[in-house]
Amino acid sequence: MISTTAHNGVDAPRPARAGPASDLVLSGVSKSYGSSVAVRHLDLSIEAGHLVALLGPSGCGKTTTLRIVAGFETPDTGEVRIGGVDVIDLPPHRRSLGMVFQNYSLFPHRTVAENIGFGLRMAGVGRAERDARIQSMLDLIKLEGRGDTYPSQLSGGQQQRVALARSLVVNPKVLLLDEPLGALDRSLRESMQFEIRAMQQRLGITTLLVTHDQEEALSMADRVAVMNAGRILQVGAPSEIYDRPQTRFVAEFLGTSNILEGRASSDGRALVVPAAAGGEIVVPLGEPRTPGEALTISVRPERIALGTERQPSVVNIEGRVTGAIFRGTYAAYQVEAPGLGRELFVYRQADGPLGSVAFRLGESVVLSWTPQDVVVVASE
Ligand SMILES: Nc1ncnc2c1ncn2[C@@H]1O[C@H](COP(=O)(O)OP(=O)(O)OP(=O)(O)O)[C@@H](O)[C@H]1O
Ligand SMILES: [Mg+2]
Repeated sequence: MISTTAHNGVDAPRPARAGPASDLVLSGVSKSYGSSVAVRHLDLSIEAGHLVALLGPSGCGKTTTLRIVAGFETPDTGEVRIGGVDVIDLPPHRRSLGMVFQNYSLFPHRTVAENIGFGLRMAGVGRAERDARIQSMLDLIKLEGRGDTYPSQLSGGQQQRVALARSLVVNPKVLLLDEPLGALDRSLRESMQFEIRAMQQRLGITTLLVTHDQEEALSMADRVAVMNAGRILQVGAPSEIYDRPQTRFVAEFLGTSNILEGRASSDGRALVVPAAAGGEIVVPLGEPRTPGEALTISVRPERIALGTERQPSVVNIEGRVTGAIFRGTYAAYQVEAPGLGRELFVYRQADGPLGSVAFRLGESVVLSWTPQDVVVVASE
């Protein structure tokens, strides 16, 4: 719970949103710059109080999408609705949004408190109420007593928390975050991920987070929208996107995938992969497919077991270890499978003493997995 205290006879406002959370809906949004299409007929909805991560490679249109929601860009087609209201004709400051970007953009010559209170002053909120709201924001971002310091006296993570407080203090309906942690080093980024997520859930604020960091998207979001070349390819819960990618792009963009291509067998129950020397490898499928259909499959590295013996009633592929890396909680192997004429990636939980890998370079191994570990993906 967020505490509320009386201040000069005025009820100090909670740092939470004033009203109930609003949903954010984009439908049929397109935007081109000259002949280059940045966003292609994009549909995306964020349930009230949820955090959706828009994830994709550089240049795929993430920032453009966010700027359209914010009102800094006008889409060529489509609608943006916040709490059911079409906001396309509203200027940015009338859309009830909070925004945080990678480079903080704090005012360097203003104190932390002045930075946080800036939007309230612009809105004509009186001094007493402003001070109360600044105080509750300072508590929220764990910078109590630091209101009189200047941004340059704070660490990168603290500055980013101030930027977050500045955007939240006006009780926006929607929070837009564009790579907010991009400038921070890895360990700080991780703790800020926890912090922002906890704050977002506590305030129940509808949030669109733009990132190209897949771990950040998977760990912070209620739902992840994977974007490429101006289009959203798949939207789903993090585990769904990771375990059930619908396309080769999604499988490869999120984590590591072993991709195999071939045709469905004559009974449709297996994938036949053309192999070296005119041979073939038969990979049983979890669900039958149309006989002869061209198929692409993805098998995650952590789904593949590595051993020295063939396993009964699973896929068995013989190979030789060509790379072995210890990664803390697991070991990553690269295994050359001569039958397939290519290398596969395998992750194995570390089971020996710290720093050890169970298989050595050059060692002969058998890779095995079950049909349930195979995901058929679209080849795009
Ligand atoms: N103002 C503009 N004028 C012309 N082209 C633009 C403009 N803004 C963006 N673009 C182009 O639109 C495409 C999408 O850009 P956008 O900034 O949305 O990508 P992004 O996904 O945010 O990338 P990054 O991860 O690098 O930030 C790019 O090809 C970019 O060059
Ligand atoms: Mg961007």
